[in-house]
Amino acid sequence: MYNNIFDSHAHYCDEAFDSDRESLLASLEEAGICGVMTCAEDIKSSESNIALAQRYDFIWAAAGVHAHEASNAEEDYLSALASLVENPRVRAVGEIGLDYHYDFSPREVQKKIFEQQLEFAVERSLPVIVHDREAHEDVLELLRKYRPKGVVHCFSGSAELMRETVKLGMYIGLGGAVTFKNARKPVEVAAQVPSEYLLIETDSPYMTPVPFRGKRCDSRLIPYTAEAIALARGCTAQEVLDITAENARRLFLE
Ligand code: NI
Repeated sequence: MYNNIFDSHAHYCDEAFDSDRESLLASLEEAGICGVMTCAEDIKSSESNIALAQRYDFIWAAAGVHAHEASNAEEDYLSALASLVENPRVRAVGEIGLDYHYDFSPREVQKKIFEQQLEFAVERSLPVIVHDREAHEDVLELLRKYRPKGVVHCFSGSAELMRETVKLGMYIGLGGAVTFKNARKPVEVAAQVPSEYLLIETDSPYMTPVPFRGKRCDSRLIPYTAEAIALARGCTAQEVLDITAENARRLFLE
């Protein structure tokens, strides 16, 4: 039985949890979960995440506009965001970033919205939660330009890109992908990321670890991911959970 689990990235306002959200969340603490960062996709979901974080002491909220939603952002979304982040339960701007796999918004629009929120977060000394899917070069370039603090979640780059990212002071978020059979790069990254920059996450309801792939993910499945990271690093899963919880508290809660 594990404890001290800080899930640094989840989406508990997703409709996948509509049928049992409250009973599930109420069960997390007895499963050893001490913290959850629930992430937004747009202004509306930022509001729902904050409402959730206000009801549960161990849940914290990130507010922001995702790459997928970039072209739907209202003209004045930054002023809406500015009032949302005044809420003390909001501890990050996220998730924000670039997604060149789905390209749900034109790349130029994704970049504009990402840059605006990087600048917004830096001005307020808030950490960012960055989504990078097949956009490694542009994400790295913008992190170099704005120098935010934060995390690249569900890190999918090489060990070399991880080192460049850590040099900028960014944390590396690892999730269910480290348990996948074809997980060569995530396992290499898991083995090599410096302890003080490692975060663990679920991306619930997505990225379900082996052996539950195909099912809905929630924070109680983190131990499978912790065990895979521990195997790569030659330590125990509880050690992985302890260090990642300490890192998440340092990044989001101090
Ligand atoms: Ni996510």
